[in-house]
Amino acid sequence: MSVNPFFPLDDMGAGTEQAEMMVFPQVDKSIYDRRKKMVGTVVDYKEMRMRYSCAIKEVRTKFDVLNSEFNVRYQRNPITSISSRLKSSTSIMNKLARKQLDFTLENVENNLYDVAGIRVVCSYVDDIYVLAQALAKQDDITVIKEKDYIKHPKPNGYRSYHMIVSVPVFFSDQTRDMAVEVQIRTIAMDFWASLEHQLKYKQEVPNQREIVEKLTECAHQIADIDQQMWQVRRQIELSEDIPTEEEILMEKLSRIDIAISE
Ligand code: GTP
Ligand code: MG
Repeated sequence: MSVNPFFPLDDMGAGTEQAEMMVFPQVDKSIYDRRKKMVGTVVDYKEMRMRYSCAIKEVRTKFDVLNSEFNVRYQRNPITSISSRLKSSTSIMNKLARKQLDFTLENVENNLYDVAGIRVVCSYVDDIYVLAQALAKQDDITVIKEKDYIKHPKPNGYRSYHMIVSVPVFFSDQTRDMAVEVQIRTIAMDFWASLEHQLKYKQEVPNQREIVEKLTECAHQIADIDQQMWQVRRQIELSEDIPTEEEILMEKLSRIDIAISE
């Protein structure tokens, strides 16, 4: 058996103690035990990240399903894009340090709710609420926290709908309830937030105050445009001609083709 001396255990923790001691005959038992504990912790940490990444897949699929359902039933996709991220180890460490907590797996799982994050971008504001409600009412979803920054924007103008949900993930030997942060926003809100986010990472920006004020003004205008776009869409929908039965059938058939090919 060939064993990498730097990683005496493989990712799943396989490898017998006897075999490993043969690789390190010169290492005394206490150092060996410390190494083993460290490697074990790394394996546990990798497992934890894997669990969060699977939780992202579960919630992402739920949104994909809702989008497909809307496409077939209402002939439009409420979701324009979905992105996700797993919080980096450095960010996890920093956030725990800010909360004055040690970097342990228990502290991550019990105190951080944004290790797994999903961002859902929609065209219209009303879709945000439809999607949030559709997710919240699913049997396997528990809403831990909700923040409506659309009805109650942050002072800087930030708007989005935030949810922390818990979702069960089924593994071969256990079921784990995992927390996932969901942010739902319109394209316009997303556009604004990504520019504002850039500002946070700049150390020194000349005319910072002016930029902050300008951004807040843009946020108000964007909120107004979101509202107007939604109203225009509603007007178009309400004014649509009533189609003939043949037109309805043709439309349905072409929709089936598109839905199945997606
Ligand atoms: P964090 O500890 O930073 O995660 O904040 P929180 O626990 O108070 O949660 P909150 O729901 O307020 O914010 C979570 C996430 O929303 C952030 O990590 C950002 O991705 C986003 N967010 C919140 N506020 C702002 C903001 O003012 N500007 C931008 N660009 N994004 C924001
Ligand atoms: Mg966060």
